[in-house]
Amino acid sequence: MAVSIAVLPGDGIGPEIVREAVKVLEVLNKRFDLDATWKEAGIGGAGFDASGDPYPKATRELVHASDAVLLGAVGGPQWEALDKPLRPEAGLLGIRADLGLFANYRPTKVHSQLLDASTLKPDVIDGVDILVVRELVSGIYFGQPRGIETVDGERRGYNTMAYRESEVRRIARKAFEAARLRSNKVCSVEKANVLEVSELWRSVVIELHQAEFSDVELSHMYVDNAAMQLIRNPKQFDVIVTGNLFGDILSDEASMLTGSIGMLPSASIGEQFAMYEPIHGSAPDIAGKDMANPLATILSVAMMLRFSLNRIDLAEKVEQAVEHTLDAGIRTTDLAYAGEQAVSCSAMGDAVCSALEALA
Ligand code: NAD
Ligand code: IPM
Ligand code: MN
Repeated sequence: MAVSIAVLPGDGIGPEIVREAVKVLEVLNKRFDLDATWKEAGIGGAGFDASGDPYPKATRELVHASDAVLLGAVGGPQWEALDKPLRPEAGLLGIRADLGLFANYRPTKVHSQLLDASTLKPDVIDGVDILVVRELVSGIYFGQPRGIETVDGERRGYNTMAYRESEVRRIARKAFEAARLRSNKVCSVEKANVLEVSELWRSVVIELHQAEFSDVELSHMYVDNAAMQLIRNPKQFDVIVTGNLFGDILSDEASMLTGSIGMLPSASIGEQFAMYEPIHGSAPDIAGKDMANPLATILSVAMMLRFSLNRIDLAEKVEQAVEHTLDAGIRTTDLAYAGEQAVSCSAMGDAVCSALEALA
């Protein structure tokens, strides 16, 4: 059965990394039996430039009519001065909210070939396999009230971190379910020693655990300690479940266990829709230079095959192709260590495609 994918390249390195992921889809169509079609649409700065809206109506219609969405990245200095609702980031938050993508899965797996690429010692990171489950459509990113006002003659900025118990329960449920398929451990991360919203978060997680998931090992950690423990002894973690802001920060931090933020894919999943995107941004500092690492985006395609297109077999092929490419010593600049020769973004994509063809 044909599957349809909405492809949203976005800004900066977005089009470069998405091009390589689309090459992988082409190989899966030609050399395997994937029957996928895709259409491109604008998001972020590209959406704004084309239509005055970072989440254009045509994009909204396309994603609602597609089986899955692949997104590159959004943002860049040229759009920073725009009003907040017109900025690229508003487009990304807009599509996540519109599609109800509350569960963001950010797997952090250390590839043994890249032990030297990390800034941490090999024995600390060898074998790390963490899944960060980040709540994606609530918390301080979306809480009201928010704004900048003038108080006593000076500006005051404010945001609201809020969670309803139903929002905590549904993300905690996803984390417990994921843990059962892994090492059966969940660490819930918040700041319950200071924040009421975290106090509620912890109570709801404990209630759900007692009621339905008492077979899963549950621990709780304050976010400041979690940031430290991730670097001190990352192998203690299996699934980390946390809110929108803490998940954003901890997943960027966790990415460095793998050697580069260019390695981390993600799946953002709701009741009806799903979107797949690397965790990194549009990397304006390297955009247009064909030097970005496309593996996070290619691995996001693997997550799409597994979770939306029901093709675990092909997801495994893509993951194997990435492993074989790393085995062959092929590295983009972000991964190249101590004088290793780096290849371009497009050469990395080509290498994965060749490795994939060899598995056909
Ligand atoms: P960033 O993730 O874009 O870049 C941080 C650093 O990591 C940069 O040095 C960059 O070159 C490097 N990097 C990122 N992805 C890489 C890759 N695939 N290969 C090699 N190196 C890579 O974060 P930033 O600089 O804080 O933000 C830049 C812009 O991206 C901002 O406008 C921000 O809002 C946006 N952003 C978007 C997303 C998204 O679309 N999901 C995520 C994060 C940031
Ligand atoms: C991410 C990004 C986004 C976020 C920004 C660009 C809105 O950092 O996808 O991790 O904070 O969620
Ligand atoms: Mn982020």
